[in-house]
Amino acid sequence: MYVCLCHGVTDRAIRQAAQAGVSSVFELAQTLRVATCCGRCAELAQDLLATAHQAAAHAAPAGGCPAGERAVAT
Ligand code: FES
Repeated sequence: MYVCLCHGVTDRAIRQAAQAGVSSVFELAQTLRVATCCGRCAELAQDLLATAHQAAAHAAPAGGCPAGERAVAT
C-alpha cells in the first residue's frame, strides 16, 4: 500500500529501509523523501518503522542463537 502519496513510497519500501538500518522518520526523509512534502505520512511511517523493528527483534534472538542463548566459552 502507498504510505507517502506525495513521493509514491510504499509500506514495503519502508520495511526494506528498516531492514537496511533506517530507524527514524528523519532518516526515511533523507533516504525515501517520506514526510518531506505535506507530512501526512509521517505518523504511519513511524508506526511501520516501529513494527518492522519489533518484528526484527523477535525474529533474531540475541547472539543469533535460535534458542536465544549464548554458549559459554570454557
Ligand atoms: S504523503 Fe508523504 S509527504 Fe505527503
